Amino acid sequence: MTNKIKYFIANWKMYGDLKSLKTINKVIKFSKTYKKKFKIIYCPPYTLLYSLKKLLKKSTLDLGAQNIHESLDYGPNTGFINAKMIKNSGAKFVILGHSENRALGESDMRINQKIKSAYKNKLIVIFCIGESLSEKRQKKTKIVLKRQIKNGLKNLSKKTNIIIAYEPVWSIGTGMILSNSELSENINYIKSLIYKKFKNYSILYGGSVNPKNINQINKINLLDGYLIGGASLNPKKLIDIIKKTFN
Ligand code: 13P
Repeated sequence: MTNKIKYFIANWKMYGDLKSLKTINKVIKFSKTYKKKFKIIYCPPYTLLYSLKKLLKKSTLDLGAQNIHESLDYGPNTGFINAKMIKNSGAKFVILGHSENRALGESDMRINQKIKSAYKNKLIVIFCIGESLSEKRQKKTKIVLKRQIKNGLKNLSKKTNIIIAYEPVWSIGTGMILSNSELSENINYIKSLIYKKFKNYSILYGGSVNPKNINQINKINLLDGYLIGGASLNPKKLIDIIKKTFN
């Protein structure tokens, strides 16, 4: 791990109802007693933002959304939500460029518009990048990462505070992770592209992070935290991941 603040971001994807929010109380309690430099951010489905905001009120946990429409204004976009609305919900963060949305046709250019729209509304972006299995097999990982970063982060101010989440698509929800040497190589490559562009950046890893593999991933000492899907639905697992990261 690096000595920057550590992020543990829970991406609940399309899971969760009002009842499941109660499980977060355990994590709130834990965060009050655990004296380390870390930030937990919950990104639930839109339907739970309001209730979760209330639950997190007296805690240090933060709230994020999972996507936005790029339009700065209200408009006739059935089923969509823009950055202004997310800001109004009390969320401070938004995940953008997630491969599950890229797979539905989100282009680098559109993601760039979304990122700009998020910053205009003072949200902090968790920008996801990562190669697919076939791109990895064709040894195109670096080309893909470079393209996603170059296009996705085009024309942003150097002062922008950005969180990059490296999530190899083939690792998401599969239980498969990279070897530490591959992971180090890719994280160092991302850093080499980012550090001149931005003053404040953090680089996270995401993809099948769980209490069983976290000790191994932590060994690379290059990460500023994790973007966690499946395991983040279980408070015990999330707490375990955090504790193991600091041990
Ligand atoms: P899993 O942790 O379930 O593999 O999901 C990772 C992810 O996509 C987080 O954004």
